[in-house]
Amino acid sequence: MRRDNGARRGGMLVVYPGSFDPVTNGHLDIIRRAAAQFPRLSVAVVANPGKSPMFTLEERVALLREACRGLRNVEIDSFEGLLVDYIRGRGNALIVKGLRIVSDFEHEFSMALLNRKLESGVDTIFMPASLEYAYVSSSSVKEVFSLGGDISDFVPAAVLRKMKERRTKKYERL
Ligand code: PNS
Repeated sequence: MRRDNGARRGGMLVVYPGSFDPVTNGHLDIIRRAAAQFPRLSVAVVANPGKSPMFTLEERVALLREACRGLRNVEIDSFEGLLVDYIRGRGNALIVKGLRIVSDFEHEFSMALLNRKLESGVDTIFMPASLEYAYVSSSSVKEVFSLGGDISDFVPAAVLRKMKERRTKKYERL
C-alpha cells in the first residue's frame, strides 16, 4: 500500500541510508544524482553499523556535511535501529541505494524485500554507480590507505585530511 503523506505532498523525500565509514566519491556520485532527480534527499547515517566503524557517528555525519555543502536540497541525518522505523518516522519516504557490482544487487535486492516485508509500502529504488566509482567502497578505501596506497581519487578532500590526521596522531602516540 503506498501511503499518501506529508513528505510526498511537500515534495517527495528520498532517503539514502548507509554506514558512510567514511563517505566516498562513489557515495557522493549517488547523492548528487539522486538530489538532481528528487526535490529532497536525506542522507541517513546508521548509528550502529554491523561492524565496528573507523569513524564515530559524529565524525561520519560531519564529513558528509562538509562533502555535501552546497547541495541545497540535501540534509544529513542519522538513525539508530531499524531503517524501516526511521523511514516511517520520515513520512514513509522512498529509499535510494546505489548499485555497483552484481554482488551489490544480490545483497540490496534482499534488503529491499526484507524492508518491504517488515513495513509494507516501504520501497527502494536503485541507482547504478557511475563507471569510475564502480570499484570504490569504504572498506577498500580504508584498506588501501592503511597499506600506504593513494586514495585521493576515491574520497572527498575532507575525508583524506581526516584519515591523514588520524594516521599522524597514531604515529605520534608510538
Ligand atoms: O553502507 P552500508 O553499510 O551498506 O549500509 C547498510 C544499512 C545501514 C543501509 C543497513 O545495514 C541498514 O539498513 N541498517 C539498519 C538496521 C536494519 O534496518 N536492518 C534490517 C535491514 S538489513
